[in-house]
Amino acid sequence: VSVSVTLPARSAAYEVLVERGALGRLPALLRGAVAAHRWAVIADSNVAALHGNAAITTLRAAGVDATLLTFPAGESAKTRDTWGALSDAMLGAGMGRDCAVLALGGGVTTDLAAFVAATYLRGVPVVLAPTSLLAMVDAAIGGKTGVDVPAGKNLVGAFHQPRLVVADPAVLDTLPVGVFVEGLAEAVKHAAVADGAHFEWIAAEARTIGQRRPRTVDALIRRSVEIKAAIVSGDPLENGRRAVLNFGHTIAHALERLSGYAVPHGHAVSIGCVVEAALGEAAGVTAAGTAARIAGVSAALGLPVALPPDFTADALLGAAAGDKKSRAGTLRFALLQRIGSAARAADGGWTHALEPAAVAAALHQAPHPAEYS
Ligand SMILES: NC(=O)c1ccc[n+]([C@@H]2O[C@H](COP(=O)([O-])OP(=O)(O)OC[C@H]3O[C@@H](n4cnc5c(N)ncnc54)[C@H](O)[C@@H]3O)[C@@H](O)[C@H]2O)c1
Ligand SMILES: [Zn+2]
Repeated sequence: VSVSVTLPARSAAYEVLVERGALGRLPALLRGAVAAHRWAVIADSNVAALHGNAAITTLRAAGVDATLLTFPAGESAKTRDTWGALSDAMLGAGMGRDCAVLALGGGVTTDLAAFVAATYLRGVPVVLAPTSLLAMVDAAIGGKTGVDVPAGKNLVGAFHQPRLVVADPAVLDTLPVGVFVEGLAEAVKHAAVADGAHFEWIAAEARTIGQRRPRTVDALIRRSVEIKAAIVSGDPLENGRRAVLNFGHTIAHALERLSGYAVPHGHAVSIGCVVEAALGEAAGVTAAGTAARIAGVSAALGLPVALPPDFTADALLGAAAGDKKSRAGTLRFALLQRIGSAARAADGGWTHALEPAAVAAALHQAPHPAEYS
């Protein structure tokens, strides 16, 4: 099944292929997407060992000139240093403007490798082959690339749209269960901001999703891709409605920063969606009961839904104030109107300025695990 993403602002449409076994026909897919003479296949250490050598073998057997470049797995490697090392490796291998990059991995790899492609010789094509659920439903779609810096996550980067996205759900078989569950948080977020019926479907299928039944997982990925594709197609550079995808993320980024990135992104997003739904309810923007409903479904999927007890409201507020979305003192949040629908702000935009005092008050009564179990 293939989902088409069109980006009118850049007149650069690309396909997001969601297809079991698609990695087996990678040579034809790459040739169809880009006329490159050499491919730099970038994968982290885990994915290189599990899937990288197989991909290289498949490509070379079909006569595709492919070189595997690896870096240590983990968010801590999504840095300028790794970007530099990968770029230098490509330069050292003599890759010219007729090369292209294939990113094979989770969101760290797709963000990093696509940023390498965005800047290599002022930009070469990139194809993304996401291998984590989070990357399939979210990170691989929409053209945001970049690295983390000491001042915060994703603060240095570029928009660089892929030529093709190849999501082969079969590779998820090797994904650790906890990492799979983390990816579900972004799928819940997509449903919450854009598709109430899909949200109810996730709720009804929570068990089969947990069992990773192929048909269910494929359907989950496909619908999430469609939702994100529709939103980013309408607003590729995030000047407007794309901001709704940041639902849950103001709090999530604060949690991640406060924990020194020990709280995984998916966990932070799950908690952030519940807390921001509660904030919206307190602000009179979000329908009553929304936070409890999201918490119920996310908990059923195995996601955490409550703030860790050692994170104080004041510390979270301080960390949130450093967020990209906060402008001049006020905190900005993408909020829901109700499940399935994001709320427009009074100024017509898609983020809501909330007074720090109101946020603090809501955080003080933030959800406790017992309320939602
Ligand atoms: N660009 C965007 O729009 C966007 C959107 C959401 C998230 N992101 C970024 O995505 C990143 C998080 O992505 P992630 O959760 O995929 O992290 P990740 O890339 O670190 O992958 C998580 C772990 O799973 C491993 N892994 C991946 N695929 C595997 C497989 N098939 N089998 C076994 N192990 C596998 C990785 O090696 C890693 O250890 C963050 O850096 C976040 O900022 C970007
Ligand atoms: Zn996210």
